Amino acid sequence: MIDILINFAYVISTLLFIIGLKKLSSPATARKGNITSSLGMGLAILVTLLDQSILSYEWIIFGIVVGSIIGTLGARLVAMTSMPEMVALLNGFGGLSSLLVGWGVFHATHSLTLLIGITIVLSLVIGGVTFSGSLIAWLKLKELISGKPFLFPGQKIVNSLILIGLVVTAYLFNTHPESAFTLLLIMIGLSILLGIMSVLSIGGGDMPVVISLLNSYSGLAACAAGFVIQNTLLIVAGSLVGASGLILTKIMCKSMNRSLSNVLFSGFGSGPTQSKQSEGTVNPITIEDAYYILEAAQSAVIVPGYGLAVAQAQHVVKEFGQLLEANGCDVKYAIHPVAGRMPGHMNVLLAEADVPYDQLVEMDDINPIIDSVDVCIVIGANDVVNPDARDNKESTIYGMPIINVDKARTAFVLKRSMSPGFAGIQNPLFFKENTKMLFGDAKQSVQGLISEFKG
Ligand code: TAP
Repeated sequence: MIDILINFAYVISTLLFIIGLKKLSSPATARKGNITSSLGMGLAILVTLLDQSILSYEWIIFGIVVGSIIGTLGARLVAMTSMPEMVALLNGFGGLSSLLVGWGVFHATHSLTLLIGITIVLSLVIGGVTFSGSLIAWLKLKELISGKPFLFPGQKIVNSLILIGLVVTAYLFNTHPESAFTLLLIMIGLSILLGIMSVLSIGGGDMPVVISLLNSYSGLAACAAGFVIQNTLLIVAGSLVGASGLILTKIMCKSMNRSLSNVLFSGFGSGPTQSKQSEGTVNPITIEDAYYILEAAQSAVIVPGYGLAVAQAQHVVKEFGQLLEANGCDVKYAIHPVAGRMPGHMNVLLAEADVPYDQLVEMDDINPIIDSVDVCIVIGANDVVNPDARDNKESTIYGMPIINVDKARTAFVLKRSMSPGFAGIQNPLFFKENTKMLFGDAKQSVQGLISEFKG
């Protein structure tokens, strides 16, 4: 009877996960999606605790209390700009728990059949790679180690040897039960080494893509752990995470016009920074002059980028948008899929400030009408509005789709200096005649514009 109840609750949890994922696909429903999926996970944990094979609840309750406290504090205290690091760390813990589940089941199993052996190997290996890879990603994002790709001659051979070592050890693990424990430890060591080596060779800037991929791995690791302990829900939840992580990775690569193999193996970011000076002069503008242009504008498109997150300017930007609207201007926010440093970065920031979802427009929808826009206000964005990506075959970002801000009647760029963005390259948009540079911290500049409107 208990088994039927548990399985029935697992079906409901699965449904909640799928409905939650569906809702996550739109900013308008994303919050509800998060809550729906969390309810599914809560239900899954609750009914799993009814499992009769649980011997004692003390450690479980201890784990839930400590985990909940750390999770709540972590989520509340983390700065928006540090969100990618936090996701990396959480992925790593997911991988570590799959590794430990595999290890635990190895000790609990009396006779190691081939099927159990294979599932333990998968749980250990994918879990180990995810754990160490995510930790390296976290260290790189935190800048505790250099973000430069770590490359050395013969690297591919070394990585291949580790991989071959893993396959051989996994085979021996399943065929030589007398040495299984030693082989298990070797396998754990090799998987951790493989995770470290694979991520060390990738540049810090590509870490968001790596994290999304590792997220997918952590799903696969959970799926493997589900097979190990024969828990249907873990298999389903792991597959959902694995598949959605892969889809997200593909979307990110497509938005940067790079292949996954280019991200993983090209050592992007190891070369010298390309700082070719663009032709022409820069046109700085003061807050007062910018106000006069904005005051007369009929339509404005705000293009946020990474600098919005750095300046934490989302709330003032919302207020600024409202003032423009009150002045009779049509306001839209154009969102580039890889603006910022993590998927949906700009959507999250603007949602935090309660910017109405119907004002958000995707890149593909704004570009066809951008030449009719009076003013495009670029706030802390750089690469995602760089016309070289469209026009200059020599550029390292050539082919990356951009928001065609340079085609608007006037463009304002709010940034602190002429420093390049993530790709490390100069942006010809800043030298165009119809571009005005409003130098300064984005939050302070927008606050200045607000004061002008209010004054
Ligand atoms: P970036 O090209 O990185 O440019 C950000 C700009 O913000 C900088 O030029 C910087 O100029 C400015 N800035 C920083 N702090 C500021 C502040 N307090 N006030 C005003 N401006 C500030 O950003 P983007 O246009 O959003 O492009 C994102 C880049 O990240 C792309 O190259 C993309 O491929 C890459 N990337 C994104 C992702 C995802 S999933 N989003 C994943 C991997 C890589 P100053 O220093 O002069 O102020």
